[in-house]
Amino acid sequence: MAERQDLDGRHIVLGLSGGIACYKSAELVRELVKAGATVQVVMTAAAEAFITPVTLQALSNRPVYSSQWDAREANNMAHINLSREADAVLVAPASADFLAKLVQGRADDLLSLLCLARPIERVPLLVAPAMNREMWAHPATQRNVAQLRLDGTTLLGPDAGDQACGEIGDGRMLEAEALCEELIAFFQPKVLAGRRVLITAGPTFEAIDPVRGITNLSSGKMGFALARAAREAGAEVTLVAGPVHLGTPRGVRRIDVQTARQMHDAVLPEAPLHAVFIATAAVADWRPVAAAEHKLKKDGSGRPPAFEMTENPDILATVARLPGAPYCVGFAAESHDVARHAREKRLRKQVPLIVGNLGPATFGLDHNTLLLVDEHGERELPTTDKLTLARDLVREIAQRLTTP
Ligand code: CTP
Repeated sequence: MAERQDLDGRHIVLGLSGGIACYKSAELVRELVKAGATVQVVMTAAAEAFITPVTLQALSNRPVYSSQWDAREANNMAHINLSREADAVLVAPASADFLAKLVQGRADDLLSLLCLARPIERVPLLVAPAMNREMWAHPATQRNVAQLRLDGTTLLGPDAGDQACGEIGDGRMLEAEALCEELIAFFQPKVLAGRRVLITAGPTFEAIDPVRGITNLSSGKMGFALARAAREAGAEVTLVAGPVHLGTPRGVRRIDVQTARQMHDAVLPEAPLHAVFIATAAVADWRPVAAAEHKLKKDGSGRPPAFEMTENPDILATVARLPGAPYCVGFAAESHDVARHAREKRLRKQVPLIVGNLGPATFGLDHNTLLLVDEHGERELPTTDKLTLARDLVREIAQRLTTP
């Protein structure tokens, strides 16, 4: 399957001001180009003290600009030409000094000049601050940041952690991968702005004894992709995850659980606080009545140990019946007859939308095919990668929220 290029057709002006974090900008150019963007690098003189234009030219495959007197531009107006072509200007790293310049509208070098000269309605400005924690926490910087937000600038980060100066705290520039993810999110339509979305994902694990348990092959990828897609669409997302090996999507609140009952107990108090509940988790239907305290041993008889099982609570059906329930979306992972089972599950669980898929055929894979079943009928979202499907599904859900 062709790799998704989320920034295909986007032209990004990437500005570098001075800071150690300039070393991350080289990687950022690669990430942006890999995601399909064309990247025009603009550097301040201070940035050139940290990394050479040669590196950035080679990675972006375009000559770097750094002077407002650059004679390569026929009209000698690099600040106008560069800013008119851009779909967004991203300054990474943005030093404390550069933020202060932006706030004051100063324009004594090409980068600050083009930020000021850009058509403000059409070319958004994003900044990724990078500085020592004391500089970040200083009232002057915090004042500047507040003003930049009021002026419509989007702040990406900063992160907390080890700093180049040896101190630990807020002020690190986000990693290149995170910045690229944030930029991709920035361009997604905000169809769930102001909504809260609750998602369950992954398998559950029901202990038999201290070393064994009942679980299933769900990887959690679809639920995690949905969490990312919902957040990209502007939602505030809570993700209740069973045991999976996946990183938390940026900006998503994650609650980790093991068992179906823990998932149930985590979801129920949250459900009334959310507008949408999407149950992608492959919850174990049954659990041993009681987990053995010690590891079960063979007793020499050749007979396996017997243990009693009991049914787990149905989280989706319980949430759907709550007074003031969120808009509920169920998943039906089937081995056959997806449409029929999805229709039956929709009615049985009393939810407005069920998403059917061939479970065993897609568990752990990066792509999927979905079948949407609601009161009006069925609609297929054809086979593609799980993030693209998740974005499509988020759009479908958003439409149903506004036109029930
Ligand atoms: N679900 C849930 N709690 C459970 C079981 C299922 O919230 N205890 C949710 C799943 O997250 C999914 C939907 O219900 O959104 C359907 O799950 P599935 O396992 O396919 O359905 P079951 O009700 O378990 O039906 P069956 O196993 O008989 O197919």
